[in-house]
Amino acid sequence: MQSSVKQQLLEAFSKADGEFVSGQALAEILGCSRTAIWKHIEALRQEGFELEAVRKKGYRILTKPDKVTENEILIGLQTDWLGKKIVSLETTDSTQKEAHRLAQEAFKEGTVVIAEEQTAGRGRMAREWYSPKYTGIWMSIILKPSLPPYKAPQFTLITAVAIIEAIMETTGLHPEIKWPNDILLNGKKVTGILTELQADADQIHSIIIGIGMNANQKEFPDELKEIATSLAIEKGEVVSRSQLVQVILKNLEMYYDVYMKEGFTNIKKRWEKYALSIGKQITARTVTGAIRGKALGITEEGVLKLLDEEGTIHDIYSADIEIDPKTH
Ligand code: BTN
Repeated sequence: MQSSVKQQLLEAFSKADGEFVSGQALAEILGCSRTAIWKHIEALRQEGFELEAVRKKGYRILTKPDKVTENEILIGLQTDWLGKKIVSLETTDSTQKEAHRLAQEAFKEGTVVIAEEQTAGRGRMAREWYSPKYTGIWMSIILKPSLPPYKAPQFTLITAVAIIEAIMETTGLHPEIKWPNDILLNGKKVTGILTELQADADQIHSIIIGIGMNANQKEFPDELKEIATSLAIEKGEVVSRSQLVQVILKNLEMYYDVYMKEGFTNIKKRWEKYALSIGKQITARTVTGAIRGKALGITEEGVLKLLDEEGTIHDIYSADIEIDPKTH
């Protein structure tokens, strides 16, 4: 929808202050047919507006989309340094790409890039990440810890704990972690984490943590239906994305500070509490092939230990895992 049409429509609804505006009145304001109005109303619905349509009365707005703009996030944000600089975009190809660029431009640690929509969102292993407008949390966080690069995988696990607890706190739902970076509800993916680095051989310059959270999607395209879900689907009601962002940032700042002071041990314990795969029979699909065995746990570095049927223990650095249905 052209933004001037959208503005005119929203102004008309705003003037009506929650009352109905007839299709005829809207058609006159916009100078178009009533059929065209109906199409514009559908476009608003696609953007997350809930509109009621009643014969002979017209249309009225019930709820507006919950935006994730800088202002919405900053008001009520309870952090000392994380998210104090927020770059919020209506649309971008990928917040991850944008955050990489800003990190190189010397944007400070704690900068957050967030978008209402990504046109080329990306996941692990160069997969696409479905990021439709106004429904999810698509954000990338710039951290600059003074650490060697081999510590970076721990940040995926720290972020997972921060996210799980944010979901529990704001929705009452109880997600689980599938190593290394999938957060699941009822066996379907609700959030993915993509941890990327700018580093030289012995020093991290920046860690870019990408978080893709399915918050308010009501449905998914056919190819994702069986494997993806959203908080709104699981809870049966729309969730506040801005509140979730605030709680994720609060938790992540807290765990990051704990990690830098005390190390990973206590966070690892929490991670293991939420982890679905530990102690189960799994198949790990790595770039060099599949290994079947029992997931024993993770190391201090976040590496998965897998005991195969011959009794050999494998260190898994990166893989997709499947849990054997018999051990569910
Ligand atoms: C995965 O599970 O494969 C990780 C998905 C990470 C998606 C997020 S959305 C925000 C950020 N920008 C991107 O392009 N990707 C990450």
